[in-house]
Amino acid sequence: MNWFITDDGDCQSLEFQAWTPYRPYRLYRFLTELEDILEEIKSDRQRLEAIAPRVCEFLETATWLDSAYVPPDAQRGWSVSKLYTEQDYPLTVQLVSWKPGATSTIHNHATWGLVAMLSGCERNHFWRRTEGDAIEKVGDRIVCEGEMITFSPGAIHSIEVLGDEPTISFNLYGETDFPKRFKFDAIAQTAEHF
Ligand SMILES: [Fe+2]
Repeated sequence: MNWFITDDGDCQSLEFQAWTPYRPYRLYRFLTELEDILEEIKSDRQRLEAIAPRVCEFLETATWLDSAYVPPDAQRGWSVSKLYTEQDYPLTVQLVSWKPGATSTIHNHATWGLVAMLSGCERNHFWRRTEGDAIEKVGDRIVCEGEMITFSPGAIHSIEVLGDEPTISFNLYGETDFPKRFKFDAIAQTAEHF
């Protein structure tokens, strides 16, 4: 299954049309089409509906991702390998690995986001703002290899790695609106920029 998380933490099914490229769907072609989609479509959900089938095709073509994978850092619990970057490039395109048992901060991304699980399972916890910086938990969803979870810019989540093996995911994010990006403390009911 594929999911879309709203600003209120509602977990909705993300439906999209299957799409077949007419030649191997290489990263540069995916990134070019991604730019076109972002220019043409302004609704984040509709953007993700257009991007998701292209991510599926890219992941099928990109057998080289196996060698781009960096195991999670033992101390920090995670590692990132950027798949594409250049100076001032606004999008985030990367593989992320998390070690077994790790949990993330509670955060939003302040931009649309897509996470495709390549290996393992992560439980996503969803939160919503109540008053000021206070948040409350509204639900969770386990996302496993072969599934995608996508986020509205205000969606607040945290992840918990399930199982005994590191998880690997392909992550794609739009241009971060930094003043709107926060990590939250659910006990102190505070938020801070990061
Ligand atoms: Fe996240």
